[in-house]
Amino acid sequence: MANKLRQQSICYDVDRDNVTIIDQTRLPHELTYVTLSTLDDACHAIVSMQVRGAPLIGVTAAYGVYLALRENPGKLTEAIARLAATRPTAVNLRWALQRMEQDLAMVSEQEILASALRIAREIEQEDVAICEAIGEQGAQLLKQLWLAKPKGSQVLNVLTHCNAGALAAVDWGTALAVVYKAAEQGVPLHVWVDETRPRNQGAALTCWELGQHGIPHTLVVDNAGGHLMQQGLVDVCVVGSDRTTINGDVCNKIGTYLKALAAFDNDIPFYAALPISTIDFSLEAGVGQIPIEERHGEEVSHITGMDAEGNVRSVRVTPAGVAISNFAFDVTPARLISGIITERGVYAPERAALAPLAQKLN
Ligand code: MRU
Repeated sequence: MANKLRQQSICYDVDRDNVTIIDQTRLPHELTYVTLSTLDDACHAIVSMQVRGAPLIGVTAAYGVYLALRENPGKLTEAIARLAATRPTAVNLRWALQRMEQDLAMVSEQEILASALRIAREIEQEDVAICEAIGEQGAQLLKQLWLAKPKGSQVLNVLTHCNAGALAAVDWGTALAVVYKAAEQGVPLHVWVDETRPRNQGAALTCWELGQHGIPHTLVVDNAGGHLMQQGLVDVCVVGSDRTTINGDVCNKIGTYLKALAAFDNDIPFYAALPISTIDFSLEAGVGQIPIEERHGEEVSHITGMDAEGNVRSVRVTPAGVAISNFAFDVTPARLISGIITERGVYAPERAALAPLAQKLN
């Protein structure tokens, strides 16, 4: 079942034999679509962050393989290498490419193109079902938290970081799927949205998406979370993940760790919602092990937004030439996490609970 956006972040257009994506670099100012026709297009979409979010990057890479083979059926190895190099942290990218490579190794040259399309479409459709299931699993938790609130409470306050919504997947999302499903089940929700500097995925994408769904929300600066928690204004934190290791460490957008520390200090449950394909079963622990993407300093020195005349502009907020470090992700240690919400259930962030899930991975 599609969520209320009624528009997937990525979809295959059967009539035109093309892949269409929402261009997330244009949101929230305009909802525009881009057609991906070649391997170059797919790589560019991931690198430029027209598509972003761990599950969506994986699906885009799968379609990238198909588009590459359509250009040249002998291009599989090159396509996989180029797509794998687009972004380093989200493991779903590698998972999707490995699945394409393994499954395509079993088909003949005549069948390879049709098979690539079939597998990419399977990965796309599975992602929708998986994210919806994550939402259903997590909604139970929010319902329990709501029922445990004192009589007379108005809302359940959820804090989220970055965008782990429908825009970060094919549909539904992960952390926001939990929000959407809980709202569907009658939990009165309010979401605190971290702006998520430097690229402002919270301010631009999560606020846009929650607005489309009619979910009450309030944007806060990234550093407000601790204060909100001390004031009793946050009941639960739910975030996504780009890579989770077997011991339950969660790598997600930079700043997630600080929210988890503040939640821990204030006794507030902190959940990560993710598909099992986000678990890196080759890594025992996350700190120091997961490659953390470092991005261009201009994302920090400049801010992009719409001016009073309606023009989208970028302005510098720093002295020219200042030294900048721009790590895009951080690792939240398992000890700060209350549970890992997956399509199969909610698990303790520990090896004994997570390692067996490797069997459930396609
Ligand atoms: O750099 P981005 O926008 O790709 O980062 C996205 C995130 O950090 C999300 O929280 C994560 O991918 C989970 S998406 C369901």
